Amino acid sequence: MKTSEKIYQRLQQADTYISGERLAKDLHLSRTAIWKGIKALEQQGIKIQTSKRQGYKFISGDLLLPDEIARHLGIPVIYNATSVSTQIDAKTAMTKGSTGPSLYLAPHQTSAKGRLDRHFYTSKTGGIYMSLHIRPNQSYQELEPYTMIAASSIVKAIARLTGIETEIKWVNDIYLNGKKVAGILTEAIASVETGLITDVIIGIGLNFYITDMPKELSAIATSLFTETPSITRNQLIIEIWNLFFTIPLDDHIKVYKEKSLVLNRQVNYMQQGQEIQAKAIDITNQGYLIVQKKDGSLETLHSGEISLSSWTL
Ligand code: BTN
Repeated sequence: MKTSEKIYQRLQQADTYISGERLAKDLHLSRTAIWKGIKALEQQGIKIQTSKRQGYKFISGDLLLPDEIARHLGIPVIYNATSVSTQIDAKTAMTKGSTGPSLYLAPHQTSAKGRLDRHFYTSKTGGIYMSLHIRPNQSYQELEPYTMIAASSIVKAIARLTGIETEIKWVNDIYLNGKKVAGILTEAIASVETGLITDVIIGIGLNFYITDMPKELSAIATSLFTETPSITRNQLIIEIWNLFFTIPLDDHIKVYKEKSLVLNRQVNYMQQGQEIQAKAIDITNQGYLIVQKKDGSLETLHSGEISLSSWTL
């Protein structure tokens, strides 16, 4: 564990000032190391009150603690403070022989990727950006519906820890009060030799406590917390992946359907340059959306994008 992480944990656990001398003694560090650690924490958005007489007091902010997350999940957590994209971090490790399961985590990304090759907004502080690398080595048909499982895990984890109810917009978006709060990007790598999907990388970007949301985004995106969060990002990350790994698939599918923003609603989608209006009537166990068109015919949408055309049934 890094010095700054040790100081963070010690300060966070205390509700009063702790002197530099006490910190140095408790953590077996020099006073200079403590001072440097405090500066590093401040740079990462952690608010610490400093008093010449009394020392340091934790005020607010939460630091990502990869070791803590790894201990709870039982998988390696690779933290990259200067990540371009955690999807790229996972792919780079994969090409170097990493077999997973591993979690790639970053406080910020300089070029995060969304679905359909779109850019994904990443805040300097207060977001959750992570990619899970797993090795299913299965045919496409045998693959679990990972995006569905991730979406249900996010919604369930948020509800369990905070009581906040979020919803899922097929196929990969999590919504809070009509605005996007998280997105999922699932990428698969196949072997040409075997035709099997060897690796899957599931990326999650979640606006946890974003205070610098760009104006142009604030009409369509929101943060889970707009006031001081009642939980830490570490707690939410642990809960999401715990649910991801432990809940039976049937339960994930049930949650995904129950929390769906689109089921039984009118939706619009593009097909061969034409806008089609239909009603979303079911989601299959593979995560496909079944829609009924105006002429009564059914269609199965596998991916792509839909928009809600009205809120009436
Ligand atoms: C979407 O909303 O279209 C999906 C967004 C997925 C963003 C996450 S953030 C962590 C991981 N790294 C990336 O570059 N993308 C995913």
